Amino acid sequence: MFYFGVDYYPEHWPEARWELDARMMQDAGINVVRLAEFAWALLEPEDGVFDFAWLDRAMGVLAHAQIQVVLGTPSATPPPWLWQKLPDSVLVDETGTAREYGSRREYSPTHSGYRAHAVRVARALAEHYHAHPQVIGWQIDNEFGDRCYAPGTRLAFQHWLKARYGSLAALNECWGTRFWSQIYNDWAQIPVPVKRLHAQHNPSLHLDYYRFISEVYVEFQQLQVDVLREICPPRQFISHNFMGFSYPNINYFDLAKALDLVTWDNYPRGFWVTTATIDPAPLALGHTTMRGLKQQNFWVMEQQSGQGAWDTLPPVPRPGEIALWAYQGIAHGADGIIFFRWRTARFGTEQYWHGVLDHDGQGRRRYAEVKQMGQDIARIGALIAQSVVRADTAILLSYDSRFAFQIQRNNPDFSYDRLLTAYFSALHQSNIPTDIIAPDHDLNRYRLVIVPALYITESDTVARLTAFVEQGGTLIITARSGVKDHTNIVVEKVLPGLLAPLCGVEVQEYDSPLAGEKCVLKSVADDFAGRGAAAAWCDILKPTTARVLAEYAQAFYAGQPAITLNRVGQGQVIYVGTVGDQALVDSLVDYAIGLAGIQHGLTTPQGVEATTRWQGDEPFLFVLNHTDEVQSVVINADYYDLISDSRQSQSITLEPKQVMILTLV
Ligand code: GAL
Repeated sequence: MFYFGVDYYPEHWPEARWELDARMMQDAGINVVRLAEFAWALLEPEDGVFDFAWLDRAMGVLAHAQIQVVLGTPSATPPPWLWQKLPDSVLVDETGTAREYGSRREYSPTHSGYRAHAVRVARALAEHYHAHPQVIGWQIDNEFGDRCYAPGTRLAFQHWLKARYGSLAALNECWGTRFWSQIYNDWAQIPVPVKRLHAQHNPSLHLDYYRFISEVYVEFQQLQVDVLREICPPRQFISHNFMGFSYPNINYFDLAKALDLVTWDNYPRGFWVTTATIDPAPLALGHTTMRGLKQQNFWVMEQQSGQGAWDTLPPVPRPGEIALWAYQGIAHGADGIIFFRWRTARFGTEQYWHGVLDHDGQGRRRYAEVKQMGQDIARIGALIAQSVVRADTAILLSYDSRFAFQIQRNNPDFSYDRLLTAYFSALHQSNIPTDIIAPDHDLNRYRLVIVPALYITESDTVARLTAFVEQGGTLIITARSGVKDHTNIVVEKVLPGLLAPLCGVEVQEYDSPLAGEKCVLKSVADDFAGRGAAAAWCDILKPTTARVLAEYAQAFYAGQPAITLNRVGQGQVIYVGTVGDQALVDSLVDYAIGLAGIQHGLTTPQGVEATTRWQGDEPFLFVLNHTDEVQSVVINADYYDLISDSRQSQSITLEPKQVMILTLV
């Protein structure tokens, strides 16, 4: 079954309206809604007094329209009585400022009283709804997030460190606390890294704190997972709504572990977007990362369906975009699409966060678009559901390295997230399916693995990468890999540290160019047609066993190696001693694809995306035109387009924002 739904807030509207809502949903092919994730004050109006009557009635109305339900646990929005009861349960931000009640996500995730209340309301919901036939799953909290620096969190951090290091002597040694006289002789002395210092915190303390706070959310989630698992049957899945690739503060691989289903919230034209054209590659990266967290299909729990704004409104989604974005999610492995939200709220902070219906309850252009998609999904959804994306290319996402770069950026133009996105975009432009994987993920099934800036490098990762290459894999590793050990201390080795033998190079010296500065490169190998330029970092390399592909053509290191290739066993490693611009990354990916013997995907114009899901041996080829122009793509075979229900031969023509799902005839 394919899940097609909306996020619905019946509590925002008079009960007299619910029936019409349900009917309009049914007309639009909606078969599931998410409910109640912000309704704590209505579910528990007073401390320990629960009221599910209104929710029962709303679900009853939806049941008549055959609409199933995902229930949210409401811990992201505690009611005022709870703040009054637990005034010290607020989150303290990195400036040391305690948040104020009045919005959401203001709670401290370590506060034991708050935790107990969150678990109690989750338990009450589970007890009331576990046997309810309409409830197919649960969402815990909503978009876990911000780092907390409250006194209770500091205490919890000290306990966490004690469990991890065992003794202060070990901690002092690992963190190098003799620097600037920071040798701790009492756990209670250890601070959390608030931004109230003359200079920066000890990078080792800082990274441990980021790891700790990520684990705090995993633990907070686990408390609710345990309650739901204890009470609810396995047919009800447990999920959380993640924030895609771009949310950098929680190790999402860890957060996904205890869940049955990863879901995420996708807002391509949120108020923060300043470009008229939406680049499909970062959106595809969001979906791909979510698929990668458990290496399984996912849902989009909130898919933009109107203007997304709090105060200043961005452009409204263009005709066709709502369905296009939803189909893009499906193309990358979504088995459920839930639009945020059903009807635009008249009140509250999000009164300009538009939904499928307008403030006045009318369904207009956006409703018609969702309805058309709903009708198509009713026809074709079951064919596609549970089919899979198959990739033989992977990009390694290291949260440890990502956290460490948040602490020390290395260069004003360097961004770990941008570097990873650049490699993903290069593959995406060639329509090559890619997985996003954790550093401890099995590499056997891949032919090409890309490792952007593995700043924190563990020896077991190196062993796995080495075995992968020896057995014939192709690897790209970039500058700023192998620099630090687990404790965020610089290795006592020639760089790239533990990776130097595998890469067959030694970094003699490195340069950190000024912001905006580029360094011209010159290809020196017949087989490598490098384009673009070095930027943001320049390692000056001495090959040990590698051969040189490109050298710098500028600066005092003109003529020195910048990019190398090392053969190891049956495979090879490309070491890229720079970050570089997109043109350079594109040419490196082209080169690596050739070495790895990976087939290019369908050739498509810029802005037209093609990707395949497989139902056994049967392919579903999704072709998505993200541009504002009519586009043609040569498909070189006879296909059937499931959406337009028409035969397509040899070449297809797509209207702006049009999507085709092609099956072989
Ligand atoms: C998401 C959130 C929703 C809603 C939406 C629009 O991040 O989960 O509750 O706020 O954004 O802002």
